[in-house]
Amino acid sequence: MVTMDRPADLLALAVSIARSASELAVRMRAEGVAAVATKSTATDVVTAADRAVERHVREALHAARPGDTVLGEEYGGGSGDAAVRWILDPIDGTVNYLYDLPQYAVSLAAEVGGEVIAGVVRNAATGKEWTATRGGGAFAGDRRLAASGETDLGQALVGTGFGYAAARRSHQAKVVAGLIGHIRDIRRFGAASIDLCLVAEGALDAYYEKGLNPWDHAAGGLIAAEAGALVTGLDGAAPGPDMLIAAPSGLHEQLHARLSELDAAGGP
Ligand code: IPD
Repeated sequence: MVTMDRPADLLALAVSIARSASELAVRMRAEGVAAVATKSTATDVVTAADRAVERHVREALHAARPGDTVLGEEYGGGSGDAAVRWILDPIDGTVNYLYDLPQYAVSLAAEVGGEVIAGVVRNAATGKEWTATRGGGAFAGDRRLAASGETDLGQALVGTGFGYAAARRSHQAKVVAGLIGHIRDIRRFGAASIDLCLVAEGALDAYYEKGLNPWDHAAGGLIAAEAGALVTGLDGAAPGPDMLIAAPSGLHEQLHARLSELDAAGGP
C-alpha cells in the first residue's frame, strides 16, 4: 500500500490510472456509443462509458490507496476527512464523445487540505496528456508549458463553454456577443479540462466559463496555473461555479474587466 502523499507520487498514480481509463473510453467508443440517460437537461447526457470509466478509476484508486475519497462527476462522493480527495471527470467532453469528435478527456486531480496538488488531463482520443504538480510546473510529456505572452485583449484567442440549460446558454451567448468584438476570436471546443490545458500551452490566450463543476477544472486549473496563468473567479473570488477565468497576467485584468461589465457571472 502506498502511504506517501507527495505530489509526484500522487501524480504518477493519477497518470497511470488516466491512461488505462482512456483506453477503456476509446475501446467503448469503438464498440459504439449511445446516451444512456440525461441529467440536468435533455442535452446533458451520460453514456455507459462515462459510468464504466468512473468505476474503473474508482476501483484502481481504491486498490492503490484505500483510505482516500473520490469525488466523481457520475457517482458523486468525496466527503469525509481522508488525507487525499481525488476529483474525477471520467469523460470531460461527453457530447464530443457521443459525436466521436476527438476532444474528450479523462481528468483526475489529487486534493490535499482543500488544495489541488497534482493533476492529469489526458485527451483519450488523441493520447495527448498534460500534467502538473503544485510548485513543480506544468508539462505536456517532457515539455514544460508556459501560458501565452499576449498582453492585448484585442489580439487574444479566447476559449469558453456553455452550460446545458437553455436559459443559461442564452445569457452566455449574450456575454459572447458582447466580448467577440473586443478580442481576436472565440473558440468552443467542448471539454473544459482540455481548454484549460490549451491555455497552459499558449494555444488559447485565455479561457473563461460560468457554471463549471470541480471535476471540470480541478486538474486543468492546476495545469494552467502552473504554466503561469492566473486562474480565478470574479472580483477576488476563487474559481468556481459562478465564474472561472484562466489568463496570463498580461490579459487577466482586461478580460476580467470586460466579463464583469457584461455580467458574465450573472444570469441563471
Ligand atoms: C462539460 C464540458 C464543456 C463545458 C461544460 C461541461 P461534460 O463537461 O467541459 O466544455 O462547457 O460546462 O459541463 O458534461 O462533458 O463532462
